[in-house]
Amino acid sequence: MKNLNTLLAGVFLAVALPFGALVISSQAQLGSLGRAPAEDGGPLFPSREPGLAIQGRAVYVSLGCVSCHTQQVRPAGQGSDIARGYGVRGSVARDYVQQKQALLGDRRLGPDLANYGARTSKIDLEALLRDPAASGAASHPSYSYLYGRSADGKSIVPSERAVALVAYLKSLRQDYSSPEAKLKQ
Ligand code: HEC
Repeated sequence: MKNLNTLLAGVFLAVALPFGALVISSQAQLGSLGRAPAEDGGPLFPSREPGLAIQGRAVYVSLGCVSCHTQQVRPAGQGSDIARGYGVRGSVARDYVQQKQALLGDRRLGPDLANYGARTSKIDLEALLRDPAASGAASHPSYSYLYGRSADGKSIVPSERAVALVAYLKSLRQDYSSPEAKLKQ
């Protein structure tokens, strides 16, 4: 047992050195990443998030949408995401610099939503959340409790959470040119 201290120091270094290198190298590569213009003198991308979209992200997290939807498009040649129409280019780290919490996801039961606000979907978003079966997506969980009825019962009224969630989904875009992922001219 006289070498116990050396052993413990060895174990500590074996864990701490790779961990430290991982954190420091990531910070060195990505820590200073900021918004960038798509062309010289143009507006900066990614755009700032509207306040309602920030509230909507919290709703998205609380309802567990991230357990079935990713927000990261694979570049052409690394899968069929572009061919499926999920995005127009692969996602890059810079796309997430405005987001306090990047909801990349790790399971994909439904389509990727990284560029949802810019692409066309055959499913109406409000109808999907309110009544998935009627909107042709019977496999989708229903979020009908986010919608109520007006006092006379004639019209459907979205709750504040539904309004924020829809604003968030519509704000999701990765359709601009980025220094690391240029859109083809
Ligand atoms: C149990 C898994 C699951 C959960 C949880 C889930 N979804 Fe889905 N989602 C799917 C599937 C599967 C589809 C594809 C439906 C279809 O096309 O029939 C889908 C489709 C969608 C679409 C349409 C995408 C497109 O390209 O047309 C949107 C938008 C969407 N979901 C948003 C949400 C939101 C917002 C939440 C959380 C409130 C959520 N989903 C929770 C599985 C899920």
